Amino acid sequence: MSNTHLPVQPGRPRLLMCPPDHFGIEYEINPWMNIRQGCDPALARRQWQALHDAVISLGAEVQLLEPAPGLPDLVFTANAGLVFEGRFFPSRFRFGVRQGETPIFETWASHAGFEVVPLPKGMYFEGAGDALFCGESLFAGYRIRSDVLGHQWVGERIGAPVLPVELVDPRFYHLDTCFCPIAPDAAIYYPGAFDDYGRMVIRDQVPRLIEVSAEEAASFSCNTVVVGRTVVLNAGAPKLATALGAMGFATRPLDFSEFIKSGGSAKCLTLRLDGEEAAGWKQAANDDPRGHLSPT
Ligand code: ARG
Repeated sequence: MSNTHLPVQPGRPRLLMCPPDHFGIEYEINPWMNIRQGCDPALARRQWQALHDAVISLGAEVQLLEPAPGLPDLVFTANAGLVFEGRFFPSRFRFGVRQGETPIFETWASHAGFEVVPLPKGMYFEGAGDALFCGESLFAGYRIRSDVLGHQWVGERIGAPVLPVELVDPRFYHLDTCFCPIAPDAAIYYPGAFDDYGRMVIRDQVPRLIEVSAEEAASFSCNTVVVGRTVVLNAGAPKLATALGAMGFATRPLDFSEFIKSGGSAKCLTLRLDGEEAAGWKQAANDDPRGHLSPT
């Protein structure tokens, strides 16, 4: 499949996705992965397609990255890097098995017209998997994959305040597995993935928070994609869906069982090309003249 560049319409969310042609469980770098259990490639393809079709039907544009053999996690485009306005900060992966993805994402980004700004050697940074805007602050998950140095380096270049939050549970090894901004002043999070300080930072900085239960967090329900006022989330999270409804969001539950076997779900399979910050404040400002979503 070749790269598909769809026409750009300002204001519409733009997402990068990579078809799961070579997706599989070929190594174990997080507690969800089990080589012997493997996954069902045909089912993974249907689940990926359902997400792709859902975000398009909700009004997003999708660009496709060409799949590459030997890189089974390339589907998780959230880990490509961080997009900020015209710049792309490519990931520096902690594990060697994922490091081959970086040149592919860099080539894609420069062809797509981004200025590629590589991090210095010796820093770890796993892109939008660990760095998420909520309001104007960049929440930065560290310790298991990214490190604080990488986040600080990126924060200095984009001029955003960085709020480092330590990830303490190996099952929630990327920030996007346990924290998801849904509006400039609102986020979903699983408190058990953070230490006291991280929980305090999140509670202090995000006025409207939805706490996800341990059970629903374990079905990857924090890993959602927000398009307009609709949240695409894992089908195994009825309590979260109800809480989102009470906050004025529609929900679109889908099944991601095969990607959860790799430690990923809806959000991990997408990268916001109009910037992670757009997922929160810019888009919500377009939706609502007051610039924020009010509870219903
Ligand atoms: N198997 C992949 C890894 O462990 C899953 C990555 C999921 N991506 C994410 N943004 N959480 O690296």
